Amino acid sequence: MYKLLLLVVVFGSLALHARALFETTYHSSPLTVQPFTILGRSPLYDPDDTNLFLVCPNGGAVAAPGPAIYKSSGELVWANSTFGNCYDFNLQTFNGQDYLTFWVEAGSAAVGRMGAATGLMMNSNYEVVMTVSAVNPEGTDLHEFKIVGPENKTALVTAVHTIPMDLSSIGGPVNGWYSNGVIQEIDIATRTVLFNWTTFDHIGLGESYNNISQTGQGSTEGNPFDAVHINSIDKDSEGNYLISARHSQAIYKIAANGTILWRLGGKMSDFTAVGNGTEFHWQHHARWRMDDTHISLFDDGAAVVIPTVIIVDEPVATGKLLKVDQEAMTVSLTKQFFPGPTRNYTTAEGSIEFYGDTALVGYGFLPWTEAYSFDTEELLFSAVVGPNNASLWNKNAGISNYRAFQTSTLTFTGHPTRPPNVSVTDGDIYVSWNGATHVASYTLLTGSSVGNVSEIVTSVPKSGFETQISAEGTAEFIAVAAVALNGTTLGKSAVYNMTDGSITSV
Ligand SMILES: *[C@@H]1O[C@H](CO)[C@@H](O)[C@H](O)[C@H]1NC(C)=O
Ligand SMILES: *[C@@H]1O[C@H](CO)[C@@H](O)[C@H](O)[C@H]1NC(C)=O
Ligand SMILES: *[C@@H]1O[C@H](CO)[C@@H](O)[C@H](O)[C@H]1NC(C)=O
Ligand SMILES: *[C@@H]1O[C@H](CO)[C@@H](O)[C@H](O)[C@H]1NC(C)=O
Ligand SMILES: *[C@@H]1O[C@H](CO)[C@@H](O)[C@H](O)[C@H]1NC(C)=O
Ligand SMILES: *[C@@H]1O[C@H](CO)[C@@H](O)[C@H](O)[C@H]1NC(C)=O
Ligand SMILES: *[C@@H]1O[C@H](CO)[C@@H](O)[C@H](O)[C@H]1NC(C)=O
Ligand SMILES: *[C@@H]1O[C@H](CO)[C@@H](O)[C@H](O)[C@H]1NC(C)=O
Ligand SMILES: *[C@@H]1O[C@H](CO)[C@@H](O)[C@H](O)[C@H]1NC(C)=O
Ligand SMILES: *[C@@H]1O[C@H](CO)[C@@H](O)[C@H](O)[C@H]1NC(C)=O
Ligand SMILES: *[C@@H]1O[C@H](CO)[C@@H](O)[C@H](O)[C@H]1NC(C)=O
Ligand SMILES: *[C@@H]1O[C@H](CO)[C@@H](O)[C@H](O)[C@H]1NC(C)=O
Repeated sequence: MYKLLLLVVVFGSLALHARALFETTYHSSPLTVQPFTILGRSPLYDPDDTNLFLVCPNGGAVAAPGPAIYKSSGELVWANSTFGNCYDFNLQTFNGQDYLTFWVEAGSAAVGRMGAATGLMMNSNYEVVMTVSAVNPEGTDLHEFKIVGPENKTALVTAVHTIPMDLSSIGGPVNGWYSNGVIQEIDIATRTVLFNWTTFDHIGLGESYNNISQTGQGSTEGNPFDAVHINSIDKDSEGNYLISARHSQAIYKIAANGTILWRLGGKMSDFTAVGNGTEFHWQHHARWRMDDTHISLFDDGAAVVIPTVIIVDEPVATGKLLKVDQEAMTVSLTKQFFPGPTRNYTTAEGSIEFYGDTALVGYGFLPWTEAYSFDTEELLFSAVVGPNNASLWNKNAGISNYRAFQTSTLTFTGHPTRPPNVSVTDGDIYVSWNGATHVASYTLLTGSSVGNVSEIVTSVPKSGFETQISAEGTAEFIAVAAVALNGTTLGKSAVYNMTDGSITSV
């Protein structure tokens, strides 16, 4: 299956990151991609292997970061490392069409815009067709990119903006610096800002759990005090916003006029807990659920606020679904999903999303993607982005995955614009087709002239990202056709000269 390369891989411009140890490499593609290692899978889980997981392997141990799609079997479906570090890779609907969406950092070859980061929207041909970014401040932050209704024409995005602030009330300098968290709702087509709200205007310094003397933040413009740290935005059916703030450990409901309507969690919670388990710490990804009667969140339990300081408030990170009664102002725990490999906290990132009768939890700095039965909370599927190597987890220097999302080949069909790629090595033919979601088999064709490569040599089932076919029985020229389960030819490679390896596009 996977080829785990225990070598230092050095590839041109990627040489700076050349600490990678575990990337899978292929004959027919230059991609070097982290494996998606399956740690456990119930026979009941996705028996037809139709699920597609959307992840962004990030971190110091990832040589070639970028968005990637894998199946429940661990098979790589698509990756592109041109984009560099990405976050929040998802399939979302805009204006009636499905798009693959994700944030990329500045400097990505695919961006070509200013700002710290940009949201990209890709069509099912894997072509970037739109970009989304905050407007004033332009420097967009990576934490949220959610397309919202009623018509799915607007996006919720976060931005951060360093501003001067008197921090003396919390023991910081009078002439201090503050990281102002901005949330915006933007009309995607016109870039019109429909909502603009900042933490400076609404959240007091006293709500923060970030210890200014411990983190040493706030005295220079380059190291502002990160008091609030917004990491998710959602919107309810009545037009109110819901934000998660990691450093005040609270979730806020905000009216369309900007007023904070209530706080859940943190130092000023407006809710009374009913039963156990409603507390959360350093949480991520707060979302309305079940007609705005519940909120799901990823409860990290711990935080690495600066690299040298880890604060642990709970021993285990979990995905939670809370029932939020906004009349009685009570909160209770409805569901809790525990990590499979080890019961440990997560120091940053993470997500929880629901698909059919399952819950999918991404553990962020612990790069696990785990699926559960919604009803029984039983773990059905567990995978790790990267190798199953604990020494690479929970570290800035290791492997992380901001959020884990999923779609399925029943919903999404990837049509790459480029044809299948072929390589001939030591008498074997290797074929791959990055991003093609519906290939069932490959047919090897041959002929004795470039213009007539039509004789069928063999047909083999697709086996993983790359399929190996014996070159036995081939003439001077070959090509490989990718075929769907229903027999339709989905695409055909260029023609390869078996003698000298030269390629003729036809
Ligand atoms: C196909 O191979 C060529 C040559 O190695 C490479 O430039 C290209 O990126 C490959 N395409 C894919 C989709 O892997
Ligand atoms: C990756 O995406 C970039 C930008 O859209 C594109 O130019 C490039 O061809 C893609 N590479 C592969 C291997 O698909
Ligand atoms: C958003 O609010 C901030 C703070 O008040 C302000 O500096 C910025 O100009 C506003 N942006 C827009 C697009 O209104
Ligand atoms: C909006 O997007 C959501 C999530 O992708 C989808 O369920 C819903 O049907 C979409 N609504 C419209 C009107 O496109
Ligand atoms: C903040 O950190 C300082 C230095 O580590 C410590 O002395 C102080 O007790 C901390 N304050 C709180 C409220 O935790
Ligand atoms: C803002 O909206 C909320 C909810 O609709 C309302 O209760 C409040 O009075 C409004 N505040 C102002 C200043 O208009
Ligand atoms: C709540 O937690 C406490 C302490 O762990 C335990 O004794 C109690 O039984 C729990 N209550 C419920 C309703 O689970
Ligand atoms: C785990 O990763 C470390 C590098 O961080 C490496 O030295 C070690 O060989 C790996 N162990 C396994 C079992 O892959
Ligand atoms: C939990 O995570 C911490 C931080 O990475 C690590 O030091 C510790 O070994 C982990 N504990 C377990 C039981 O895996
Ligand atoms: C193409 O090659 C096949 C045998 O591989 C042969 O039967 C056929 O006549 C050839 N067609 C042309 C137009 O040369
Ligand atoms: C055959 O399958 C492909 C891939 O799933 C699909 O795009 C195509 O519409 C199907 N054709 C027919 C005739 O069903
Ligand atoms: C294929 O390779 C052979 C051997 O090198 C060479 O004679 C022939 O010209 C090549 N054909 C093409 C179309 O390049």
